[in-house]
Amino acid sequence: MANLFDLTGKVAIVTGGNGGIGKGIADGLASAGSDIVIFARNEDKTAKAVKDIEKKYGVSVLGLKVDVGQEESIQNGVKQALDKFGRIDTLVNNAGVNIRKAPEEYTVEEWDWILGINLRGAFLCAKAVYPAMKKAGSGKIINIGSMTSLYGLAKVLCYACSKAGMVQLTYTLALAWAKDNIQVNAILPGWIDTPLTVSARRDFPGLDEFVLDRTPAGRWGAPADFAGAAIFLASKASDFVTAEYIKVDGGFAQGTNTVHPAAR
Ligand SMILES: NC(=O)c1ccc[n+]([C@@H]2O[C@H](COP(=O)([O-])OP(=O)(O)OC[C@H]3O[C@@H](n4cnc5c(N)ncnc54)[C@H](OP(=O)(O)O)[C@@H]3O)[C@@H](O)[C@H]2O)c1
Repeated sequence: MANLFDLTGKVAIVTGGNGGIGKGIADGLASAGSDIVIFARNEDKTAKAVKDIEKKYGVSVLGLKVDVGQEESIQNGVKQALDKFGRIDTLVNNAGVNIRKAPEEYTVEEWDWILGINLRGAFLCAKAVYPAMKKAGSGKIINIGSMTSLYGLAKVLCYACSKAGMVQLTYTLALAWAKDNIQVNAILPGWIDTPLTVSARRDFPGLDEFVLDRTPAGRWGAPADFAGAAIFLASKASDFVTAEYIKVDGGFAQGTNTVHPAAR
């Protein structure tokens, strides 16, 4: 049987692929042979990621300055990707931002900024790649949610709404585009050690202990932990998997912090 996980000749756009979880996913897809397009704002970070991925995996990597909060910027990015590679097989909607505060303290501008990048940006990226995937007769879209796709968290209202929305975006696109042989799935990370959670540890004293206690794996996740799930969802191995989410959380969602340690 041909290697179900081989991505040679494929092209994947990874939003926010220049660092954190997105870089872990870009590394994973590249290690399976996929060429990579990074959409992100920080050009220095992107240039470093491009060099690193090309050197490690020998694939072709295009780093583009794209703000997923801006529709025109997304459309330009998709056009440049198609001009260079002539195809887009995979879209990973990973770019995300957060502001932590009490619900009553958010401004409309903050709501719009967070939802605009995390949720509307994902929708607009999916919309922008759809014509190429439809024409090609296949495609894979991977949306990055969060534990807040499933659970409330008092100080991340806008983020949690955006991440719950990512699951519904996944379900709806999966149903609508199944006829085009496009599979749409989500990955829900648990607590992962990235720049986003460095600030969470600062904002929430005791978070480190909580995560270690609640996560059965007994550690924070790392960006490299996302390679496997991303390769699976981008590859032939998942051709009959759609409208699904995979928790990559070290067991956090089933965490046993309410049970006495001796009884776990
Ligand atoms: N870390 C966790 O524990 C955790 C848990 C659950 C879910 N997640 C989700 O995982 C994803 C990645 O987060 P992370 O932890 O890896 O955080 P991160 O290191 O802060 O990465 C966020 C990425 O998004 C990009 N980005 C932000 N705004 C953008 C915009 N307007 N346009 C294009 N790119 C943009 C950033 O690049 P530029 O700054 O260069 O634009 C960066 O590469 C996010 O969706 C996050 O919500 C993370």
